[in-house]
Amino acid sequence: MIYITGDTHGNFRDFSERIHSKSVKRGDIVIVCGDFGFLWGDQMHNYYLQMLKFEPYTILFVDGNHENFDMLNEYPVTEWNGGKVHKIHENVYHLMRGQVFEIENKKFFTFGGAYSIDKSMRRENISWWKEELPTNEDYDTAKANLEKCGYKVDYVITHTIPQSAIHRLSKVPDPHDAELTGYFEWLYNNLEFTKWYAGHFHTNMLINDNLQILYGLIQEV
Ligand SMILES: [Fe+2]
Repeated sequence: MIYITGDTHGNFRDFSERIHSKSVKRGDIVIVCGDFGFLWGDQMHNYYLQMLKFEPYTILFVDGNHENFDMLNEYPVTEWNGGKVHKIHENVYHLMRGQVFEIENKKFFTFGGAYSIDKSMRRENISWWKEELPTNEDYDTAKANLEKCGYKVDYVITHTIPQSAIHRLSKVPDPHDAELTGYFEWLYNNLEFTKWYAGHFHTNMLINDNLQILYGLIQEV
């Protein structure tokens, strides 16, 4: 069984409560839609990160804007289920940007990243990293991998959402990540998919029956 949830921000207790609310069992998969936050580098989060390796299920996450990218990028890049990952533990993997994974016979397109609106209150390489926004290479990777599968997948996993969906939240798309949310808008209209899951907005809301924004909610796919 595959479960998907929103931002966890390295909060082990909150994450455990979500897991237990769904009776996630050995062999299941839990996907976090960014702001995973367990790789942060301080003593508490290092401890929680070690705790995760004893969980009997597999944890997958795309990156959000609140991740320690220096720490994340120290992990080896490997192939896993058809796409590139950072392998954190035997049961914890970072799903990299622009990848297509085959999980339980379903195709998942993954593309993390977003802009931090609280950037001015953060310090570079301590609590904020410029890698939160995608590079041209990330978009090129996505293009190549989506062309390979004919722009048809089952699920999309991102942190932020397409621009039209941001308007549906009664918010204005931030110009700092307009390239990303604009790209997502294009994908939303041109990619064939069943359901798109995202986080970032700290709310649980279904938009147009095919775009689920998640926060504390954990849903079966
Ligand atoms: Fe968040």
